[in-house]
Amino acid sequence: MGRRRAFFISSAWLLMLAACLEARGVSRPGRPDWTFGFAEPEIRMPSEREEAGDDEGQGVRTRWAVLVAGSSGYGNYRHQADVCHAYQILKKGGLKEENIVVFMYDDIAAHQLNPRPGVIINHPSGDDVYAGVPKDYTGENVTAANLYAVLLGDKSAVKGGSGKVVSSKPDDRIFLYYSDHGGPGVLGMPNMPFLYAMDFINVLKKKHAAKGYKEMVIYVEACESGSVFEGIMPKDLDIYVMTASNAQESSFGTYCPGMEPSPPPEYVTCLGDLYSVAWMEDSETHNLKEETVKQQYKTVKLRTSNFNTYNAGSHVMEYGNQSIQDERLYLYQGFDPATVNFPPNRVPPEFMGVINQRDADLHFLWQMYKKTGDNPEKRKEILGQISSTMTHRIHLDGSVKMIGALLYGPEKGSSVLTALREPGLPLVDDWKCLKSMVRVFETHCGSLTQYGMKHMRAFANICNSRVTRELMEEACASACGGHGGLLHPSNLGFST
Ligand SMILES: *[C@@H]1O[C@H](CO)[C@@H](O)[C@H](O)[C@H]1NC(C)=O
Ligand SMILES: *[C@@H]1O[C@H](CO)[C@@H](O)[C@H](O)[C@H]1NC(C)=O
Repeated sequence: MGRRRAFFISSAWLLMLAACLEARGVSRPGRPDWTFGFAEPEIRMPSEREEAGDDEGQGVRTRWAVLVAGSSGYGNYRHQADVCHAYQILKKGGLKEENIVVFMYDDIAAHQLNPRPGVIINHPSGDDVYAGVPKDYTGENVTAANLYAVLLGDKSAVKGGSGKVVSSKPDDRIFLYYSDHGGPGVLGMPNMPFLYAMDFINVLKKKHAAKGYKEMVIYVEACESGSVFEGIMPKDLDIYVMTASNAQESSFGTYCPGMEPSPPPEYVTCLGDLYSVAWMEDSETHNLKEETVKQQYKTVKLRTSNFNTYNAGSHVMEYGNQSIQDERLYLYQGFDPATVNFPPNRVPPEFMGVINQRDADLHFLWQMYKKTGDNPEKRKEILGQISSTMTHRIHLDGSVKMIGALLYGPEKGSSVLTALREPGLPLVDDWKCLKSMVRVFETHCGSLTQYGMKHMRAFANICNSRVTRELMEEACASACGGHGGLLHPSNLGFST
């Protein structure tokens, strides 16, 4: 009832205002605002007119977006596909290219394994999502340091790339979306070091203190993505965060070869990630002037759990200020006029075949191997890659286990390293200690790599139990005895 009455008042008010503006000869080419303003169920004061869609144009209220694919390599096709797709949604929603900053390695579209050169898809029957994506930060320029500088709007701290930064004003809104591998307390980057949770949160605090935005929405797809915010994300930064998984579980790739739904047969790699395609396919099929962040959260949560079969899905989590949930999505993702008659919410498609992010690269190599045919050279090469990938995994897992035994004794070692803290507590109390332990480990045992991120909890627990750096040095040296091999950080860079 109340909603209905507000609807009429709001429509009448908007019509009046539209008439006034028309009389003054104000026109907005290409921005379908008033026509769709009727969808607003509440009365808005003129000072809040962005709620009716009139937010851009006069440099007053701008929507900004930062899109980050944290991986590289054809086996990680899906992360860059996710990010390109997100760009297309925001662009269709009316965000301007100058306000969307894209981080992607950009080694997929032109990759020799890509069956459709110059094209990237994010759905088995999807259109190209690559065309038009700005190459702001690509290749060597995709770094955590550049992401921080971009978010802070600090042009002078940016190294390389287009130099585009988020020079947002106090009334602007920011949408940040990230997709990649992660581990407890960290998110991956294609160039070392990783993004460490506390560094990222400190950047957000700094941006807030500088009054760099009105509100921000952050979506993160990665394994253990909840751990980047758990216990350390403040509630008073005007930021709402949604993550693909909780602090202790994997997130999942989807549209993978050999699974349902599967990509076209010529693809040997997964096209998307479960959480990411869930939010994007939801955004594309709904009227974002009607749908709230909360409605999207609910739909995405259901799909990402794979309809409550959590062994093939993950727990979507929320952090920061939950009140932002009640806002409508177009404030962050824009509004595509073509969706005006779409429902605000609808229960989405079927169960999706998925693969644990950490096994996706082996799955990819195996698909390649199966497709190779009888070229013995090629078969040997791929088998070599599979076995070196496996060998490094076994080496990392074994070394961490050994270090646990050396530090805590053979009985308790594993349980101390894998112990979970109470929900609500951060992964580690001393984030500097975490970095320093990782460095010690990598010096003796080789780079953690994408797979090794999963051992971050072990290093965190080593810090939490107040093991000294000297003891850790000693344990790493005896466990690994310089077996870093080719994956020594002098080749790959330290992840801290
Ligand atoms: C990194 O940025 C610099 C400066 O814009 C540019 O010259 C270089 O080509 C970029 N590297 C890549 C791989 O895009
Ligand atoms: C959360 O956001 C709401 C709506 O913007 C605001 O009124 C409230 O003060 C915020 N809460 C905190 C703890 O900052």
